[in-house]
Amino acid sequence: MTRPPVLGVPLNDAKTDDLYLDLTQSNQRLNSDQELGYEVLVGLSSLPKRLPSHLIYDDRGSELFQRIMGLPEYYPTRCEEQILRAYAREILNSVAKRPFNIVDLGAGDGKKTMILVEEAQRMKVDFRFVPIDISAGAMRGLVSRVRTEHPDVAIQGLVAEYTAGVRWLASQSDGRSNLVLFLGSNIGNFDRANARGFLSRLWASMRVTDRLLIGFDLKKDIDRLLAAYNDSEGVTAEFNLNLLDRLNKELEADFDRSRWRHFGTYNVFSGAMESYLVSMEHQTVHINRLERLFTFEPWEPIHTEYSYKYLPADMDSLAADSGYRVEARFLDQDGWFSDDVWAPIKRPVEADLSPAE
Ligand code: TRP
Repeated sequence: MTRPPVLGVPLNDAKTDDLYLDLTQSNQRLNSDQELGYEVLVGLSSLPKRLPSHLIYDDRGSELFQRIMGLPEYYPTRCEEQILRAYAREILNSVAKRPFNIVDLGAGDGKKTMILVEEAQRMKVDFRFVPIDISAGAMRGLVSRVRTEHPDVAIQGLVAEYTAGVRWLASQSDGRSNLVLFLGSNIGNFDRANARGFLSRLWASMRVTDRLLIGFDLKKDIDRLLAAYNDSEGVTAEFNLNLLDRLNKELEADFDRSRWRHFGTYNVFSGAMESYLVSMEHQTVHINRLERLFTFEPWEPIHTEYSYKYLPADMDSLAADSGYRVEARFLDQDGWFSDDVWAPIKRPVEADLSPAE
């Protein structure tokens, strides 16, 4: 059975009226099929071809990423867990003077965040846990786990992208402070310019008493980086290739995985790990729901993700450029990863408007 195309439905076709999109009306929301369709259409029509990295995290992708986090070569998760265990109390003290929310942008399985949540419980402070993730499967798992294992933790899960999380923050007027978590190498997914843009938007949604806990993967031995993104079990390759399966399923595409390979490389100049899916031969792929054929030349890449690596000086200038003061910097023992606590710098007049200390 073929479903109707998700894009480009003619205006005058009464039967498909509900699929017609007037993009000039800003209140016209795209459904998730249409959004996926547009992103894929735009990405595969670009040169070089690319697909947005968040598409990798469907439920299966999210599961695979949880496996990656447990791999011996994938150091960031272990480094960050070590940091959170060592400094949980200090981190929480930055907001714990009054009731607060722990808002986790991109919570995934929540394993790292639970280190903070459990410490907050031990501190007997008044807090709510607000995990946000684009994978509904991951969120369901996390919420039900917290409900059974920590029945007294107030939790409100949100299935959404980061930006919706930021909007959620801005919409809150309950007088609680927020500890906003942006852990792992989430910030690394943005190039430098977009990292500033994202953090500036986040800044606008934060009040003076809020704090951002932000993870940075630091520049280190290139071989260690390469190993982390090209693991020996091939889980990362599977994770990246799963994106093709997703397009096959959700957009009725006919990508043949055996004609593609995962390639992860480090760009020393830009400081980013880059992941690609590379077409190993000339091929034409039909994406039925886009009503389009896409041709790939031998060794033509689709770019799928960046993971920018930082120097401490890069973190300092990113903070300054996007309106934050670096309040604390916590490194793991090897100095491979950092979790920074950033405070938004707001002018006094705005500070006066925020709820009393
Ligand atoms: N962006 C994450 C990171 O930098 C997740 C990730 C790890 C990833 N390996 C990947 C994303 C390979 C795409 C392809 O660690």
